[in-house]
Amino acid sequence: MRLGVNIDHVATLRQARGGHEPDPVTAALAAQSAGAHSITVHLRQDRRHIQERDVRLLKEMLSIPLNVECAATPESLETVVSMRPLWVTLVPETREELTTQGGLDVAFLQSHLRQMIRDYHASEIRVSIFVDAVAEQVKTAAKLEADAVEFNTGPYTDLPLTTNPDSLLAALKENCRLASRLELGVLAGHGLNLRNVGPIASVPEIMELNIGHSIVARSVFVGIEQAVREMLKAIREPDIFSQ
Ligand code: PXP
Repeated sequence: MRLGVNIDHVATLRQARGGHEPDPVTAALAAQSAGAHSITVHLRQDRRHIQERDVRLLKEMLSIPLNVECAATPESLETVVSMRPLWVTLVPETREELTTQGGLDVAFLQSHLRQMIRDYHASEIRVSIFVDAVAEQVKTAAKLEADAVEFNTGPYTDLPLTTNPDSLLAALKENCRLASRLELGVLAGHGLNLRNVGPIASVPEIMELNIGHSIVARSVFVGIEQAVREMLKAIREPDIFSQ
């Protein structure tokens, strides 16, 4: 299983003072040298953390794949196409939210998304869609010829420690199997940390986890390279840090 590291919150810290430090590009290169398999950035419409300059530099400097998360809007399409990352991940986005809330409603937006996916493909950009673990969403993503789905693990990671996660995990696993049968790449992410990643890392169909906040938070204490290595260990040995 691969680890994609989301470095948005390095940029959040930089934007807090409006200067140059810490630089998310430097953080991405450090994550890469620690063994990260890809880097994700969310180019939000309000540019609250990642800036276009970051994406352009990352594209030039990384030797691992770059995945740009963005809203499914014509403006984002135009910007991201000009940057040519290997992957784009389409997410729902509102200005008020602190972080992405839930998956994109692919079934509802399908007529809008069909052409958008074609436009990304015409620029040789692979398309992943952030979805909730719901069969209708997965089937529609396959019908629209998306390349992958990223399952929203938020409902699982938000559960209180005292609540049994089994039924949520069962639904996630079933939808991972469905996505794999439909020949979609399968990713997952949101809210994952050293304590809760084990059961998700054990799902055989998932090829990559996208993890941001917990790695950047941990890096304040141990540095980003160590934080990435710890997460890689937690993914490879799922019982090691579990709850
Ligand atoms: N995947 C998607 C689609 C996201 O929007 C985010 C948050 O930016 C993540 C993964 C990473 O979530 P977290 O920062 O909670 O690890």
